[in-house]
Amino acid sequence: PRKQKKKKVLLMGKSGSGKSSMRSIIFSNYVAKDTRRLGATIDVDLSSVKFLGNLTLNLWDCGGQDAFMENYLSQQRQHVFSNVGVLIYVFDIESRDFDRDLLTYRSIIAALGQFSPTSSVYILVHKMDLVVPNQREDIYNDRVALIRSKSDAFAPIPFATSIWDQSLYKAWAEIIHDLVPNLDQIEKHLGELGEMIEAEEVLLFERSSFLVVSSWCSAIGAMNPTSDRFERFSNIIKNFKQTTSRYTGTPKSAEQFSLLEMKLPNFSLFIVKFTTNTYLSVCLPPGEERFNSAMENCYIARNKFE
Ligand code: GTP
Ligand code: MG
Repeated sequence: PRKQKKKKVLLMGKSGSGKSSMRSIIFSNYVAKDTRRLGATIDVDLSSVKFLGNLTLNLWDCGGQDAFMENYLSQQRQHVFSNVGVLIYVFDIESRDFDRDLLTYRSIIAALGQFSPTSSVYILVHKMDLVVPNQREDIYNDRVALIRSKSDAFAPIPFATSIWDQSLYKAWAEIIHDLVPNLDQIEKHLGELGEMIEAEEVLLFERSSFLVVSSWCSAIGAMNPTSDRFERFSNIIKNFKQTTSRYTGTPKSAEQFSLLEMKLPNFSLFIVKFTTNTYLSVCLPPGEERFNSAMENCYIARNKFE
């Protein structure tokens, strides 16, 4: 069956857990410290985000204060929980009452099971920066095991996240990857392009969030030991755009660069504005000629991706 092109994404979790913070960083060009001035969300903050593949995400950032949560579960139950494509549930690692958070989560899962039983569920154990590094893994694993046990028929996909590092980009890139329709087609074209220009790695970024939505690498590229490079990339570029907008006075959301290039002794790399909704990053072995023809070929190939 064809995937629906409008996807409802529910962002839930208790008040102060960090939902609006992550939404603002991923979709509204905030950097981490900007989130300190966010106020509590009143009821539901709706936004729609246009993505590649004609996908529109309808993001429901649901204020997490008790009164709102009760309201979603009772009066607004059907309205909130029907037609959900994805539930993203945020747990605050610093929460003083995890048992209570679990109870609320259970109620949400029950409502989702009732109205959107085929929805995907992602759980983000968030604010990991507040836990001392040597305890992170244990605490995270404990929490995830408990959350899983309260998930009924859903099989939630867990991530450890923080707005203070690139972990947030990893989680959201995977969520988005699951939502974009026709990605296999895009992935196929990306592979053909990569082989033709003899690249080591080709990445496709969504324009506004700078999340990696698709990637291809050669056998050599696959040997790259830096396994978190995609999300590092997203993080670096987002911060770069922030900084340049401060110099040029451009509104943050409008800041767009058209080309970034690096020519180093052992590799070269360029990032270009590609289609309406994407940027393309290409990593190549060194060499001026190879670089120029690769760039030319990328420009020629771009309408295959529109
Ligand atoms: P409601 O709208 O009331 O449901 O809350 P919310 O979940 O939207 O919380 P919000 O995003 O407003 O964040 C509350 C506070 O948490 C802000 O001051 C953020 O700066 C902080 N915060 C968010 N994410 C993180 C994180 O990863 N680490 C740390 N240390 N603080 C965070
Ligand atoms: Mg909020």
